[in-house]
Amino acid sequence: MSAVRIAPSILSADFSKLGEEVAMMERAGADWIHVDVMDGRFVPNLTFGAKVIETVRKRTALPLDVHLMVVEPERYFDDFVAAGASGLTIHSEVSPHLHRQLSRIRELGATAGVAINPSTPLSAVEEVLDVLDLLLVMSVNPGFGGQQFIRGSVDKITRARRMLNDAGSRAVLEVDGGINRDTIAECWRAGADTFVAGNAVFSAKDPAAEIAALRAQCAHKA
Ligand code: DX5
Ligand code: ZN
Repeated sequence: MSAVRIAPSILSADFSKLGEEVAMMERAGADWIHVDVMDGRFVPNLTFGAKVIETVRKRTALPLDVHLMVVEPERYFDDFVAAGASGLTIHSEVSPHLHRQLSRIRELGATAGVAINPSTPLSAVEEVLDVLDLLLVMSVNPGFGGQQFIRGSVDKITRARRMLNDAGSRAVLEVDGGINRDTIAECWRAGADTFVAGNAVFSAKDPAAEIAALRAQCAHKA
């Protein structure tokens, strides 16, 4: 059985003390740090660039899982990997040359991920499974933290797990949006192994206890 990874999203951090928040999440037991890059075009919000990735990189040894919610994501590959990104995840909806783009991410030495919006079918990634290290199933419409989990995502995760297994793919299956104590277990049972959590961990009084609680929810397959 695959390991459970919890990836706190710094979108919900207190930016006035970003470095401390990242270090705190590492001490709290996070497996990865999730960095949400938004361009105000693919999604209606603006966030970080390479400088922030570099800042986060200095404060943690954990893998940096960079989620690119931007059009023309290839414009940022080199800079973001140089800044310390461990993995780059691009959206299929704005990546017409997925195979080339994923191959390029791998060439740079990072893990190559594809994210799909709630309305995007799994078939969007079917032809690139051979160059895919991570599939990110969005369980909210991207753009903001603290949104409500979309229920239909569970069935999609089940189908995604089947698709990866059938293809013999060892890609990580990640879910992002509205993950908390009430939603994580069903995603785990459906076959996800990596869970982004923004609001749930950053708004918790005790983030370490919250991460442990999220992980504990995944302890058993039904
Ligand atoms: C949404 C982002 C998420 C977000 C998750 O567009 O991709 O990573 O930060 O936040 P929560 O866990 O609060 O839904
Ligand atoms: Zn994200």
